[in-house]
Amino acid sequence: MGAQRLGLFLVLTLLGLALPEFSGVAEGYNRPPARKNLDVPSDTDPDSNSPEQVHISLVGEDKMRVSWTTKNPSPATVEYGTSPGAYSSSATGSTTSYSYLLYHSGEFHHVDIGPLNANTVYYYRCGSSPGPEFSFKTPPAAFPLTFAVAGDLGQTEWTNETLQHISKSPYDVLLLPGDLSYADFKQNLWDSFGRLVQPLASQRPWMVTEGNHEVEKIPVVHSEPFTAYNARWRMPFEQSGSESNLYYSFNVAGVHVIMLGSYTDFDPASLQYKWLQTDLAKVDRGRTPWVVVLIHAPWYNSNEAHQGESESIDMKSSMEELLYKGRVDLVFAGHVHAYERFTRVYKDKADDCGPVHITIGDGGNREGLATKYEEPKPAISMFREASFGHGQLQVVNGTHALWTWRTNQDDNETVASDSIWLTSLLATPACKK
Ligand SMILES: *[C@@H]1O[C@H](CO)[C@@H](O)[C@H](O)[C@H]1NC(C)=O
Ligand SMILES: *[C@@H]1O[C@H](CO)[C@@H](O)[C@H](O)[C@H]1NC(C)=O
Ligand SMILES: *[C@@H]1O[C@H](CO)[C@@H](O)[C@H](O)[C@H]1NC(C)=O
Ligand SMILES: [Fe+2]
Repeated sequence: MGAQRLGLFLVLTLLGLALPEFSGVAEGYNRPPARKNLDVPSDTDPDSNSPEQVHISLVGEDKMRVSWTTKNPSPATVEYGTSPGAYSSSATGSTTSYSYLLYHSGEFHHVDIGPLNANTVYYYRCGSSPGPEFSFKTPPAAFPLTFAVAGDLGQTEWTNETLQHISKSPYDVLLLPGDLSYADFKQNLWDSFGRLVQPLASQRPWMVTEGNHEVEKIPVVHSEPFTAYNARWRMPFEQSGSESNLYYSFNVAGVHVIMLGSYTDFDPASLQYKWLQTDLAKVDRGRTPWVVVLIHAPWYNSNEAHQGESESIDMKSSMEELLYKGRVDLVFAGHVHAYERFTRVYKDKADDCGPVHITIGDGGNREGLATKYEEPKPAISMFREASFGHGQLQVVNGTHALWTWRTNQDDNETVASDSIWLTSLLATPACKK
């Protein structure tokens, strides 16, 4: 090791010791002992250039983006069709890679395929050489539609339990309100997260937005934020007129989903604010009776964790009126490692025309649960509990949806910890615009 390399190595080691400071996690509340990250080894031959970390996302209403990694350059090609082993179509996309401190990534391929039929199983293969076959099912074109919702996943045994529960549930699309891998600057942990979620994320679209753990900016040595996140989890932002992978929207069946970015500018002069204004103005309630928003840091939260952060307070003051006037039905957040459901709310008061706010940051990451709540419980908070789990939103039709929160202890599929029928604002005449 030359003197320069040694110097860099020492600086990085020291930074490594200081890094938890950058993760932006407020302490001051008790968490159960943290659980270690799982070891998720590569199951492909180390000498091969096989596709790894395969995941898919919705691109427009009839296309799917297939994303995967190879160690070395290889064609960004996907072959696909509706029968196993018979690939009647193929498409080509683009490839990117990045460096982060001493880490050099593999090649990330993103290929949009389609047009595809709704509610149909497709079989596909990534890259040009004979490789493993994957399959996915496209969402239905109309109701009913089921979302799985899971935040702050990480990659511990808790995470694996959550994923096992989700994989046994019938869902069409997964929504993730931020904090994916908890790699926290260790880039190889982004790779192991990709391997951990592949069995699910290669079969159903995973639509994600960013949390604080995606930022991974280090003063001076790596000043660019979201490097790994943007290279690996490229969401369909161009399709909704967004200029950034950090916020976008999409339609699926009769639901308009808006993914907001809590860790980019959100003030009224920001591009994100202007984009949100335009996006809400374009919503056609005839086509998408439901409007659902995802953020990372909750605007409503009676847990002791993460109180007083700008991403909650300032983003709420900036954007809450837009969501209210846009008659948004539901807002999902993560960040707080626990579950909490509020009533319909606007400006801190119960309001029949405001969105229901739900914190679902209990996916299972290594930091553990946020177990302390402010007392007494605010009247607008309807249910709160610190347990690991995930949510399921079954949108039955244009007016009714069944929301259930399933903890990892809910072994009986018919008994959920929290369950409530929601009616869309479209069904509330007083809230019609
Ligand atoms: C996740 O859980 C499943 C089922 O218990 C198990 O087979 C699998 O090995 C676990 N994954 C990891 C990475 O530990
Ligand atoms: C929507 O679903 C709910 C719950 O199943 C049902 O009561 C209602 O009649 C349905 N509405 C329409 C228009 O089908
Ligand atoms: C699950 O809960 C339902 C409803 O309470 C009950 O009828 C059923 O027997 C339970 N199943 C098991 C396996 O405990
Ligand atoms: Fe977070």
